[in-house]
Amino acid sequence: MNDLVLEMKNITKDFSGIKALDNVTFSVRKGEIHALCGENGAGKSTLMKVLSGVYPSGTYSGSIFLNNKEMNFKNIKESQDAGITIIYQELALVGEMTVAENLFIGHDLMRAPIIDWNEIYRQAIVALKRVRLDIDPQTKVSDLTVGKQQLIEIAKALTKQPEVLILDEPTAALTESDVSILIKLLNELRDQGVSCIYISHKLSEVLELADSVTILRDGRTISTDEISECSEESIITKMVGRELTELFPYEEREIANEEVLRVENYTSYDKSGKKIVSDINFNVKKGEIVGFSGLMGAGRSELFISLFGGMNGKKEGTVKIDGKTTNIKSPANAISEGLAYVSEDRKRYGLILGMDITKNTTLIALNKVMKLNIIDKALEVNAAQQITERMKLKAANLDIEVGKLSGGNQQKIVLSKWIMNNPKLLILDEPTRGIDVGAKYEIYKIINELAQQGVGIVLISSELPEVLGMSDRVIVMSEGKITGELSRKEATQEKIMVCATGGGSRG
Ligand SMILES: Nc1ncnc2c1ncn2[C@@H]1O[C@H](COP(=O)(O)OP(=O)(O)OP(=O)(O)O)[C@@H](O)[C@H]1O
Ligand SMILES: [Mg+2]
Repeated sequence: MNDLVLEMKNITKDFSGIKALDNVTFSVRKGEIHALCGENGAGKSTLMKVLSGVYPSGTYSGSIFLNNKEMNFKNIKESQDAGITIIYQELALVGEMTVAENLFIGHDLMRAPIIDWNEIYRQAIVALKRVRLDIDPQTKVSDLTVGKQQLIEIAKALTKQPEVLILDEPTAALTESDVSILIKLLNELRDQGVSCIYISHKLSEVLELADSVTILRDGRTISTDEISECSEESIITKMVGRELTELFPYEEREIANEEVLRVENYTSYDKSGKKIVSDINFNVKKGEIVGFSGLMGAGRSELFISLFGGMNGKKEGTVKIDGKTTNIKSPANAISEGLAYVSEDRKRYGLILGMDITKNTTLIALNKVMKLNIIDKALEVNAAQQITERMKLKAANLDIEVGKLSGGNQQKIVLSKWIMNNPKLLILDEPTRGIDVGAKYEIYKIINELAQQGVGIVLISSELPEVLGMSDRVIVMSEGKITGELSRKEATQEKIMVCATGGGSRG
């Protein structure tokens, strides 16, 4: 007997000849938070899918023991019944259904001959309270931000009362305040004896929260250590197999006075006539990187979705591109004006998961790979090859469906696609969410290069170190308004937080 709740021994899993997991060993103690770290494509999600029966017994080799008993899960339901619950990296809620329906899909309450909606709403409110969400259970999930949807996923997992809870990048979409809610919750669960497997690229969080950490690299177990023996540097070194000294490759440079974008007295409403952002004034110069900071719900994404031709409501004010007043009515308009928008929600706006890498990357830059009005396959493949090499994409070949790539590698394709179109203004909404430290650095380098070529960059990010590390200027929003503007020299975490929470300074 031992105090291990879970042991995975010699797990090997391949996808058409490519080893995603190679003899992996992984064990978790009762009531601990065990972090699982590794670069994009290292095999973290695959290992958890083996554990939770997504890849059934027989499709991998090796063995799984739960409380010293060997398990051979044939599907997710079996692993759930045994006490294992997984929250996937990609959100799995049904957008068209309400919060309550999503929380209790498949639950006995929903299977009763006459569904007791009052009871469901009552329990939904209790479940939402646990994750400190104060929303009506009858809200449609698609009306909520990604961050709130993530909290609902967690609430849903908790209704299953798991013994082992797997969180695959739970905080990628959460802001700092929501992360702290989650951390409190996980600490509570640990006290109740629940074991958590925690996958995250945010190493500061791993160090704060976890009891121990296992590192995977290229499908192999590199190490398992007590967290007290680790530092951010030691984890990074093991993950990437070399030392990384610099995190933000910012380059000091002259910024021209020409404006790519000028927004004056801009107010935007949603379909129902509700104001989403009001009285917005700012500009972005050629080759300038402007960071947009703020808490979740501050209106940053909404502002840029609206400027990009989304949000089907009334819009007031003036928008100038290259000094000329424009009237962007749709994303197609925006693209032809030279704008590019890398969305925070890659599943919804970013990728066609069933299509291959090449086609996804060249999707909007088709004019660059056409000859005499037909797509030139050679040009297309060549273009896709160039950009994906630059992004250090990890994939066996470019014919793979993007749905089969690891989360971080999917994000790289979204970026590739927009960069390929040579935009004048590149709007990046949480561009490094779910991306490992090594690849982040590559993406920052690309941002720098583009800025140097004169592209205006808007960098929306919840990660303050990223905003501070990469921006020439930082604009802070709160409740749909701009509440502060700070130069690179002035900007600090504290000053940004003051503006983000309502107080502010501009100038
Ligand atoms: N269904 C699939 N078909 C083919 N290859 C796959 C499939 N699922 C995963 N892979 C490959 O297995 C490897 C491991 O992927 P996995 O999703 O486990 O990585 P990860 O560590 O979770 O990365 P990330 O941090 O980017 O989420 C990758 O090379 C990926 O392309
Ligand atoms: Mg993953």
